[in-house]
Amino acid sequence: MEKRDFLHITDFTKDEIFATLDLAKEIKESFKNRSDFKPFKDQTLAMIFAKPSARTRISFETGFFRLGGHALYLGPSDIDVGKREAVKDIARVVSRYNDMIMARLFDHKHIIELAEYSSVPVINGLTDFNHPCQIMADIFTVLEHKGNLDDLKIVYIGDGNNIVHSWLALAQRIPFKFVCACPPGYVPDENIVKAARDAGLSDIEISHDPKTAVKDADVVYTDVWASMGKKHEFDERVKRFKGFQVNDDLMSATGKSSSLFMHCLPAQRDVEVTDSVMESKNSIVFDEAENRMHMQNAIMLKIAGIR
Ligand code: CP
Ligand code: NVA
Repeated sequence: MEKRDFLHITDFTKDEIFATLDLAKEIKESFKNRSDFKPFKDQTLAMIFAKPSARTRISFETGFFRLGGHALYLGPSDIDVGKREAVKDIARVVSRYNDMIMARLFDHKHIIELAEYSSVPVINGLTDFNHPCQIMADIFTVLEHKGNLDDLKIVYIGDGNNIVHSWLALAQRIPFKFVCACPPGYVPDENIVKAARDAGLSDIEISHDPKTAVKDADVVYTDVWASMGKKHEFDERVKRFKGFQVNDDLMSATGKSSSLFMHCLPAQRDVEVTDSVMESKNSIVFDEAENRMHMQNAIMLKIAGIR
């Protein structure tokens, strides 16, 4: 069997995405029941981190352990990806010891190269370009809360970053209305916007007006204004992103009392989102965080060919 990686949501077909959503639901149930399903018994997952993480590390380490395996944390001082040795060398070395690799890297080209030279499946745990596990967990969370994905309108407010790119990848596989409201100069990559539009499934809009954008939103989503690797731009960005904070006024502008609030976390409270919105009854950020683990377990089982 040829090995499979999960580097982009588009690595899965539409049917595979729906099958993974079903599997995540099943895995979540069995996790809560402490079932004895241990398909990764005697296996190891190497987790390579070039950037900090709470959710990604904890959810992969806990999830892989609960499915019977052992996960190794390799931080920036263990493997300085692309600097201490060539990516293609570390790919082959880590593959000789482990059954699967999850990596969080800066340069997206590095994860492509890691996967190309690894003999075991590679999962993308975030790069500067995208964050596919996050958006798979997010759509699973939306499905749990809404019961279906019909006529869905997702409005993202803030920086046109890696999170937006993965929403745009999902939009190439399943239909929904997606609006990214961002300041001029902070728009998502034009090639992925074009790919999402060319796929002809979803309605994609780039806006600079948050108040109009959120009208009728089922989900209002935001992320930090300065991502990892861009933290030095924070002060400048706070000025540029004025008016793009998700606050009670913006949530009211959806015109729907049922609009959900989502954030991949970590959040900077009272910067991109107010404390009040984070704590509101419409906020599903902690379900979203929990679902990272169930969705990633489902993704690992799929690419390992176990389910
Ligand atoms: N959402 C997310 O990936 O969180 P961490 O950066 O803490 O892993
Ligand atoms: N856009 C953020 C996401 C963190 C999970 C970052 O890349 O830092």
